[in-house]
Amino acid sequence: MEQQLDEIESEAQRELAAAAGDRRRIEALGLKYLGRKGRMTQLLRSIASLAPEARPAAGLRANETKQRLSAAIEAALRAAERIERSRVERIDVTLPGRAPLCGTLHPITQISREICDIFERMGYDIVEGPEVEKDYYNFEALNIPKNHPARDMQDTFFVSEEVVLRTHTSPLQIRTMERHPPPVRVIAPGKVFRCDSDQTHTPMFHQVEGLLVDEKVSFGDLKGTLTAFVHQMFDEETRLRFRPSFFPFTEPSAEVDILCVICRGTGCRVCKQTGWLEILGSGMVHPAVFENVGYDTRRYTGFAFGMGVERVAMLKYGIDDLRKFFENDLRFLSQF
Ligand code: FA5
Ligand code: MG
Repeated sequence: MEQQLDEIESEAQRELAAAAGDRRRIEALGLKYLGRKGRMTQLLRSIASLAPEARPAAGLRANETKQRLSAAIEAALRAAERIERSRVERIDVTLPGRAPLCGTLHPITQISREICDIFERMGYDIVEGPEVEKDYYNFEALNIPKNHPARDMQDTFFVSEEVVLRTHTSPLQIRTMERHPPPVRVIAPGKVFRCDSDQTHTPMFHQVEGLLVDEKVSFGDLKGTLTAFVHQMFDEETRLRFRPSFFPFTEPSAEVDILCVICRGTGCRVCKQTGWLEILGSGMVHPAVFENVGYDTRRYTGFAFGMGVERVAMLKYGIDDLRKFFENDLRFLSQF
């Protein structure tokens, strides 16, 4: 009996050592020795057939052996589990880290600054004004009297009878000339608001206003300046056209279109099949406007323009829907 116990124990220990780290094999060994039909179990049962006086001693020995074996198997199992877990949870210190998410300027801000940079290089100063504006600056001083049909050109958000959300950046023309005698050369970026919404119009958008007043300023200067701007903003090849138009505060007036970059002039839904996209309105400052700010209309002439920043951004990046700029989808915004 004793000899058999020793044999079983040493055999089991040998097999356990060979199975180290292998949970399935250790579990199988557990069954082989301690399971219901295991070798230890059978041996323990055979004690019943010994002579009664021999049973207690044999039982004690057998139980001690069984406990040692079961402890050894338990320990081997725990060790195997530890190894397995460390294989799954291992930290690979050579993996590249996750870069922190870093914000960038909104594409509209970027384009607005780019526009201002180009004009600053031409000697223009940057000015800013209020988004909530007096009717006087937004309309009246710009030669758009109350009840004048020209007010219908822009659907206005009224704050009160005399106060509006500015519908364009042109009030900065008046605010600048009221404070500075000629010559002036300024550029005014900012938000404007109109009750307007579709693929190429949003209720809030951005404009950059330009104003240059001096002696002997001609329409040729306006054309040259805007052509130079478009060539710097896009490239020397970009075609633009001056289309006669009307604004109460300029005479003569022209709108500038550039060749639609989405379809290259063949016609698409963005340019409404015309091949061209309007980016700005412009003209020679109307004498009535000069009179409103006290400029000498015999001595000074000037030109002004107001361009849509979103339109420029759409053309520059080939984006077909203006509303994308305001949906704050990071997948869209992070491309710029
Ligand atoms: C004006 O706002 C005039 N103040 C421009 C001007 C300034 C003329 C100085 C003469 C002298 P207009 O409403 O056309 O004009 O708008 C100018 C530009 O803003 C348009 O060419 C277009 O590029 C852009 N724009 C107009 N409405 C919207 C809109 N709802 N959403 C996005 N861009 C718009
Ligand atoms: Mg227009």
